Amino acid sequence: MRVNIVQIKEMKQKGEKIAMLTAYDYSTAKIVDQVGVPLILVGDSLGMVVLGYENPIPVTMDVMIHHTKAVVRGTSNALVIGDMPFMTYTISTEDALRNAARFMQETGCQSVKLEGGVTVAATVKRIVQCGIPVCGHIGLTPQSVHQLGGWRVQGKTPEAASQLLKDALALEEAGAFAVVLEQVPTPLAALISKKLGIPTIGIGAGNGCDGQVLVIHDIFGLSDRVPKLAKKYADVGNLMRQAVTGYYTDVRSGAFPTDANSFTMDESILADLE
Ligand code: KIV
Repeated sequence: MRVNIVQIKEMKQKGEKIAMLTAYDYSTAKIVDQVGVPLILVGDSLGMVVLGYENPIPVTMDVMIHHTKAVVRGTSNALVIGDMPFMTYTISTEDALRNAARFMQETGCQSVKLEGGVTVAATVKRIVQCGIPVCGHIGLTPQSVHQLGGWRVQGKTPEAASQLLKDALALEEAGAFAVVLEQVPTPLAALISKKLGIPTIGIGAGNGCDGQVLVIHDIFGLSDRVPKLAKKYADVGNLMRQAVTGYYTDVRSGAFPTDANSFTMDESILADLE
C-alpha cells in the first residue's frame, strides 16, 4: 500500500522525521522505494543533474511527464510527487489545473509540487479543491533563480523572514499537505515548522524541520559539486568509473566476453553454411 498524505501529516503529529529524496528514473526509484523512503520527488532538478542545464528553467511538462512515469513504474510504496516546471502553473489557474491533471492522469503520481507562497496560494487552493494533493516550496525557489540574484539563502532580513512565514501560512491555508523550505536559516525554518500544522521538509534549512529532502545525485556523489546543504553518502561516481574502466579494458584486451556471456548453436548448421 502506498503512503498517502494523511499518513505524512500524521508523521508530523507523532514527531516522526520524514525523509524525501528525488528520483528521475525507474531503477533508482526502485531502490529508494525498497528502502522505504516515504516521499519521492521527481524534481525539476533533473534539468541540472540528469540533463546538464544550469538551472531548471528549460525543463518542460513533457520532460517531467516522461521521467515521472518511469519513477511511478519503479515504485509501489512511496508517495510520488511530480514537480511542476517553470511557468506551468503561473500563466493562469486554468493552465495550472490542466498541467496538474496531466501529471496525475498521464504519470500515475499521487501529488504535485509547485514553487511560491502567497502569490500561488489561490492556485494551490484550486488544485487541492480538484482532489490533487499539493506540496509547496518556498525559500530559495530555483525556478526564480534569476529574480533572486543567484543561489542564496533566503529570509535573512526582517522583511524577508516575515514574508516567508506569511508564505508558509498561506500554503497551509490553501490546503497544501507539506511545504519544502529551501535554503532558509535554521532558526527561521524551525519557527515556521512550529507555526505550521503541516510538515515542513527542509533542504538547507537545518534540523528543526519536520523532514528533509536531498537531490539523490548529491548523496550518491554524482553531482559536479556537492553543495554545502547536502551530504555525500557514497562515492557512486567512482564505482561507475571503475566499472566502465573494467569493461573498456576487457573489451580492448579481448577478456570480455567469455563463453559464460555467449551462446552456442548446433555445429552442423554452421558446417552447412561454411
Ligand atoms: O527539483 C528539486 O529537486 C527540488 C528539491 C531540491 C526540493 O525542488
